[in-house]
Amino acid sequence: MITEQLRNEFLVRKDLTFLNFGSFGACPKPIFERYQQYQLELEQEPVLFIVKTGLDYLQESREALGQYLNCSADDLVYIVNPSHAVNLVAKNFPLKAGDEVLTTNLEYGACDRTWEYYCNQAGAQYKKQPISLPLTTKEAFVDDFFKGVNNRTRLIFISHITSSTGLRFPIEAICAKAKQLGIPTFIDGAHGPAQAPIDLSLLGADFFTGACHKWMMTPKGSTFLYVNKAYQRMLDPLVISWGFNSTTPSHSSFLDYHQTQGTRDFSAFLCIPKAIEFMNQYNWTAVSSACKVLVKSNAMRFCELVNSQPLAPLTDDFILQLFSIPIKTKHPIQLKNLLFDQYKIEVPVMPHGDQVFLRYSIQAFNTQAHLDTLYDAVSDIIKTTNLIEID
Ligand SMILES: Cc1ncc(COP(=O)(O)O)c(C=O)c1O
Repeated sequence: MITEQLRNEFLVRKDLTFLNFGSFGACPKPIFERYQQYQLELEQEPVLFIVKTGLDYLQESREALGQYLNCSADDLVYIVNPSHAVNLVAKNFPLKAGDEVLTTNLEYGACDRTWEYYCNQAGAQYKKQPISLPLTTKEAFVDDFFKGVNNRTRLIFISHITSSTGLRFPIEAICAKAKQLGIPTFIDGAHGPAQAPIDLSLLGADFFTGACHKWMMTPKGSTFLYVNKAYQRMLDPLVISWGFNSTTPSHSSFLDYHQTQGTRDFSAFLCIPKAIEFMNQYNWTAVSSACKVLVKSNAMRFCELVNSQPLAPLTDDFILQLFSIPIKTKHPIQLKNLLFDQYKIEVPVMPHGDQVFLRYSIQAFNTQAHLDTLYDAVSDIIKTTNLIEID
């Protein structure tokens, strides 16, 4: 199913055991080559590219992404990263003193900081609803989460797949219930695209950001923000430029505002159609399923090795191509550095609250041998150091 030809498409260094696709993705050769072609075309005629041909490619790229996500291309804008998207919405969302933004205690730290900053400015509260781990069922998750809703809740902000725990949250049920209650939703889907199926029309989220440069494998700095039409007029751009109060407006002020951001190289955004073509060529649903099988079939032995439990049942409801092993260590940075320096393994050791997770990612180029190397390294570290506590 995953052929040698596909494994060889990736540029990731072969002298490393690379188990951290989740942090920043990694481009396969055909997508990276397309990126370089766009950059070459840009430098060969910068004016034509920036004011005309590049904008046509951008339109084609948004249309391809709109089809992939099942939404209108005009409700999508490309931005560099999810932090940018969260800042854009948080800065503009009309919060007043006493209002609440409901989230979980398992969100990405940079996004927490953004919301805390803008909530503080408005006198509003960024409320982190505690999620009990291990997760049991989607229904229990939704019940737990909605205990945080009250008549001051103005927005729900929640991850699709979290960074440190690697868990997939039941955003479909959350968006549906929020809609019944009349609460808008903002999904932090940084890890979602190409790791989980996404149908934005069916989902009904009001805001959704997804990083294409992670699991869709496009070059760094390619991310989208989807905004339901009802909220597009609410968003002033983070960078005021020619698109603001444009004298030559296009059909969409949403695009004029957020797409026109001064001179920049937007070649990374243009590679989305190539990434979709690449995934189709290799039958990505099957590739991703094979990765998920590898993730799950190794999960228990890692948990047993460090004497811990998985954070959720080992099903596609909660676990996809990331698996976070809860470990006990007082020295996460030392442990990460040791794994890299001595064992040549690229794998993150991520503290979150009072817990620490060793998170492996599985992409098409990973094999059982990579996970065996990690297993042997962790066993060795347990035997030879006191960096991991087993009690
Ligand atoms: C869940 C989640 N949200 C947001 C982000 C922010 O991404 P960036 O730092 O690229 O803006 C990340 C990054 O990995 C993430 O995992």
